[in-house]
Amino acid sequence: MSTMKKRDFLKLSDLSRAEAREVLAMATTLKSEPKGSRVALLAGRAVAVVLEKASTRTRASFEIGIAQLGAHPVVLETQGSQIGRGEPMRDTALVLEGYCDAIVHRTGATSRLLDMAQAKVPVINALSDDGHPIQVLCDVFTIEEAFARAGDSKGIAGRRIAFVGDCSSNMARSFVEAAVLFDFHLVLAGPAAYMPPKAELDAAGSHVSIEHDPIKAVAGCSVINTDVWTSMGQEAENAKRLAAFKGWTVDGAMLARAPTEAIVLHCLPAHRGEEIAGEVIDGPRSRVWDQAENRLHVQKALLCFLLGAKL
Ligand code: CP
Ligand code: NVA
Repeated sequence: MSTMKKRDFLKLSDLSRAEAREVLAMATTLKSEPKGSRVALLAGRAVAVVLEKASTRTRASFEIGIAQLGAHPVVLETQGSQIGRGEPMRDTALVLEGYCDAIVHRTGATSRLLDMAQAKVPVINALSDDGHPIQVLCDVFTIEEAFARAGDSKGIAGRRIAFVGDCSSNMARSFVEAAVLFDFHLVLAGPAAYMPPKAELDAAGSHVSIEHDPIKAVAGCSVINTDVWTSMGQEAENAKRLAAFKGWTVDGAMLARAPTEAIVLHCLPAHRGEEIAGEVIDGPRSRVWDQAENRLHVQKALLCFLLGAKL
């Protein structure tokens, strides 16, 4: 039996900067190779993917990526498993640890994620109410890849990056953590009532600034991110949120105030005409399809890292 302490990825700061760099470098290697050429890496292993919220990209990219590494993916959704009938998450964790080598978990409250993390195998946060760290780790890869392709290999450190719209969202909150981990400056641009908790802003210090004027939101920013105004679980607030975020659509006029090299990201799913205009998400500055593809490569790298599989 391995004496290595298990490693979770519940938030970005569960990785050191050097470890995050190692994962991104592994992802570059994996992306450069035929997708199915590494089935020996996790042969004979199994990974559970537990989804308590809807998913397209997370489910498909993890399930396929796990298989491409030679491991067996098992997807459990709320409906159709005993989770939907109220079985405690800790009980689910203690059962799954006996079957599999890692657990990928999408949930709501962080307490459920922490219950799952009581399993003795690594647990990856695949979105919770407080963060979407796996998406943002993948987004850092996409940002560096996009600029490198354009001949700018400076990386993400030192860049000015905007998150526009719901800055209280799980996505924005993981971007706050990423600003510290990868040493860039994040502009949180949105209404004052929709900002991250103060403690998270305080922890990020000068890596983060706040902008409440949409006209100034993206000035000097080489990356513009946005996300839905109503996240999963907030559907009852939809009308209130539509009103609160009026004027914060990432559209052509907003993009025109950014540097000409600026790229646009959205983790998807998107609502064209709300947080992002169709002309932007389907336009030349958008990197959203690369962003979606890169989920596959970076997640495979993270699984290998957490399970100690060397490329
Ligand atoms: N971006 C993202 O996590 O997409 P899904 O909700 O489809 O998994
Ligand atoms: N903030 C969004 C992200 C979806 C991937 C949500 O939680 O619904």
